[in-house]
Amino acid sequence: MTDDTNSSNAMWGGRFAAGPDAIMEAINASISFDKRLYAQDIRGSRAHAAMLAATGILTNSDAEAIGEGLLTVLSEIEAGDFPFSTALEDIHMNVEARLKVLIGEPAGRLHTARSRNDQVATDFRLWVRDQADAAITSLSALMKVLVAQAEQGADWVMPGFTHLQTAQPVTWGHHMMAYVEMFARDRSRFEDARKRMNECPLGSAALAGTGFPIDRHMTAQALGFDRPMANSLDGVSDRDFALEFLSSAAICSVHLSRLAEELVIWSSAQFRFVAMSDKWSTGSSIMPQKRNPDAAELIRAKIGRVLGAAVALFTVMKGLPLAYSKDMQEDKEQVFDAADTLMLALAAMTGMMSDLTVNTAKLEAAASSGFSTATDLADWLVREAGLPFRDAHHVTGSLVALAEKKGCDLPDLSLEELKSAHPALTEAVYSVLGVHNSVASRQSYGGTAPDQVRAQVARWQGLLA
Ligand code: ARG
Repeated sequence: MTDDTNSSNAMWGGRFAAGPDAIMEAINASISFDKRLYAQDIRGSRAHAAMLAATGILTNSDAEAIGEGLLTVLSEIEAGDFPFSTALEDIHMNVEARLKVLIGEPAGRLHTARSRNDQVATDFRLWVRDQADAAITSLSALMKVLVAQAEQGADWVMPGFTHLQTAQPVTWGHHMMAYVEMFARDRSRFEDARKRMNECPLGSAALAGTGFPIDRHMTAQALGFDRPMANSLDGVSDRDFALEFLSSAAICSVHLSRLAEELVIWSSAQFRFVAMSDKWSTGSSIMPQKRNPDAAELIRAKIGRVLGAAVALFTVMKGLPLAYSKDMQEDKEQVFDAADTLMLALAAMTGMMSDLTVNTAKLEAAASSGFSTATDLADWLVREAGLPFRDAHHVTGSLVALAEKKGCDLPDLSLEELKSAHPALTEAVYSVLGVHNSVASRQSYGGTAPDQVRAQVARWQGLLA
């Protein structure tokens, strides 16, 4: 034998200096990332041990030794002096091996009526559940900030856009409340996902359940689950809870990214609708005038990681037969990174939006330009002169063309000029050409009128209190 298993193999070793044992360990081990589940792992094991004692499967003294020993392991990990070992593969085996060193023989009884398959499913569910709770809390905080923005600017007029072209005047409050609705849907998606994920896989064992007389209701309750999962095959092979978390996170991320994009546009020199506080912007090392909206840009960019994680885990899961496959070990890094990214983006957005300075004069000037009240003029012709909307649209279009030719805005046209387009136009039409009248007139439910916005603000203040 010239080949030694500890050195690179000429046929397939390639760039690997290490032999197959080391390469296998590198691809197989998950401890470098699943150590993040230590608290959930120990919590799950303590619940399992207590149940094994209550059902007479373990003696009370063994279960007590296990329970105490696990607390020691917990404090060692929290103190940062736990000897994590890659050879021991994952968090489950690292904790159990350390328990063996600490308490000896009873440690070997902890894995009775359990498998790493139901263990990891339980640990990960507990972790994702915490993240869903954190997302719900963070979204509520962001919504409160947006509602406060809406309240102070319920009647600040700004241009509303379609195709990023000036469309009709809207209010700042209305724009802020649009995001409140979006983030509220996100929050309810996390709430929904949390409800469905709150069933306990522990006791599914490897896949088929167990012959030991375990009490799955007891462990489910101890871990704060609503009930045990009803099918042990599903218990160990399901990752819907992670997929739902990622899906909810992906949609929420898209909302964060859209708001971030608006902040980037609004803070540009051409818009100047808003100014980010110093805390949330950076300067340029070469151009002294620059104030870059880096935090908004990074939220917009980091969202790609969340979307990528969702695609990655869907791809991992889509071809797996029941029950557990090692592929599923790839769930964790994706969800960890997506959750970290989402929490950071939510916190940054909340901070930016609460420190934002709004330039109301700029908003109003922009709202008044670009023939933003053309629709109001057409509506006036329908309402006051009985024109069919299509005809009114045509008349208004000719007036916009005239104003464009003259280089002025609609309210700058003389009454004679208006009448030349349609004789029914009178002095009274000027009132609807002003942006404040325009927004005040949009009283339809959910419309941009300050009264409507204030009603929505009050509704949300009640719901978020
Ligand atoms: N580290 C594994 C994972 O994250 C734990 C489950 C291992 N189960 C097994 N049958 N090898 O998926």
